[in-house]
Amino acid sequence: MPDELIDMTITSPPYDDLRDYNGYHFPVEKIAGSLLRKTKPGGVVIWVVADRTVDGDETLTSFRHALIFQEAGFKVHDTMIYAKNNPIPSDCGKRYRQAFEYMFCFSKGSPKTFNPITEPTKSAGTKIKAFRITERGRGNVPDEDIGRQIKSERKLSNIFYYNVGTSSSVDKVAFQHPAIFPEKLVEDQIRTWTGSGELVYDCFMGSGTTAKVAHQLGRRWLGSEVSRDYIQIAEQRLAKYLPQSVSLA
Ligand SMILES: C[S@@+](CC[C@H](N)C(=O)[O-])C[C@H]1O[C@@H](n2cnc3c(N)ncnc32)[C@H](O)[C@@H]1O
Repeated sequence: MPDELIDMTITSPPYDDLRDYNGYHFPVEKIAGSLLRKTKPGGVVIWVVADRTVDGDETLTSFRHALIFQEAGFKVHDTMIYAKNNPIPSDCGKRYRQAFEYMFCFSKGSPKTFNPITEPTKSAGTKIKAFRITERGRGNVPDEDIGRQIKSERKLSNIFYYNVGTSSSVDKVAFQHPAIFPEKLVEDQIRTWTGSGELVYDCFMGSGTTAKVAHQLGRRWLGSEVSRDYIQIAEQRLAKYLPQSVSLA
């Protein structure tokens, strides 16, 4: 792969031997360094990862990965949360139910594209009210200091909510893979960080969710997957989007 080829990577690496992906592992330091070289200036990597709890202790693999990407030369542009509307029911002992993963946004310099998803605001048109804490307590800031009105739309917060499980894809074959991305998660991230025709990469492609969504959004895509079994799943899932003569293996 030539250097500075990729506009965006979105991926979820295998971590903490949580699932046995046919026994495959990966060297995260090498991958972070390679991704930096292969990413265009201003490109981003969305790295979706969580932690396993071992003997009452969270592994913090997620943060280790973030530090490794930062040391490789990426900026930790944002630490976003992928919250699950319907997490798998489990008794987490003396902990609250585990319901999120991290979506680290690593960027090579400042992101070159940002198309924020917005939502309507409640009090559009009214003046922004603000206050300062002074040594005499809480004091309103005079209007002229604010001078702005609440807009009709605002950017979403960096906590994104998705359904997991069977509603995360319409493709039955995808569920032969143990850990697929919700398609909507991939859609939101690709729309945010890329423009039409740009190249999206998934270095742990699994069942091909990134490829499918990138294709549907008019982006080009590239994927790597080490397991032949999962490649076959991706091939079946993507068949209707690929020219007949193309095999992914
Ligand atoms: C969490 S899954 C990704 C699932 C994917 N996001 C999807 O929606 O189907 C991680 C994938 O990484 C693959 N993998 C593990 N080690 C790898 C390596 N060294 N190179 C490429 N893929 C690898 C596993 O086989 C597994 O399919």
